[in-house]
Amino acid sequence: MRRAGRLAADLLNHLEPMVQPGVSTQALNDEAEHWMQARGATSATLGYAPPGYPPFRGSICTSVNEVVCHGIPIPNPQQILQDGDIINIDVTPILDGYHGDTSKTFLVGNPSAAARTLVEVTQESMMRGIAEIRPDARIGDIGAAIQEYAEASGFSVVRDMVGHGIGRQFHTTPEIPHYGKRSSGLKLRPGMVFTVEPMLNAGSCDLKFLADRWTVITKDKKLSAQFEHTVAVTEKGVEILTLA
Ligand code: MF3
Ligand code: CO
Ligand code: CO
Repeated sequence: MRRAGRLAADLLNHLEPMVQPGVSTQALNDEAEHWMQARGATSATLGYAPPGYPPFRGSICTSVNEVVCHGIPIPNPQQILQDGDIINIDVTPILDGYHGDTSKTFLVGNPSAAARTLVEVTQESMMRGIAEIRPDARIGDIGAAIQEYAEASGFSVVRDMVGHGIGRQFHTTPEIPHYGKRSSGLKLRPGMVFTVEPMLNAGSCDLKFLADRWTVITKDKKLSAQFEHTVAVTEKGVEILTLA
């Protein structure tokens, strides 16, 4: 998991300089696919088809502006990033059978001050959630820390999409909500590995699913941002596995 996590983080760093006005989400996808292949990794998202979903057509997820998550790069080759956009890139390489799952929201050119604040608060909310993780803490502590900071900053927390256990499988139990009550939920134990991946919205937390059945957008079409790390509970506290 450490090696898969490190690879995922390195991939995001590799893509970061490409995130400029004029680049297509298809180009980001293709660069990521080649980069993973060159390192003996495969994409967990390409062809991913949980029950009830069509196969996902992308080696990464590219979620621009009002897209909350699961934006598809492949069928949108005409999608060109514009100055002022924000884009979440979510990568999940599989290395030697293990998944590393991480995402960041990048600024394209010079977004508005409001957009930059949303992105900063989302990243900080993730880090505050992660800071709660230690043996004997509870899953509710993570969500509570995220929700308190997000809502105090004037943003809403998406309820319908959650973090997840991860390992040899992409998505396993437990679910990690990004909202909740302190001292509630499953107790954390050393050796547990899961993601923390809050999505914060500038407007309401209501979502809409597009006809492709994957792309999730905000119902009010206002901006959404997300950050994600894969973490492990250790004897002493927490280890972030998706650091470059
Ligand atoms: N990486 C996403 C997550 O954080 C899941 C993407 S599934 C896909 O769980 F099919 F949309 F790529
Ligand atoms: Co995830
Ligand atoms: Co992810």
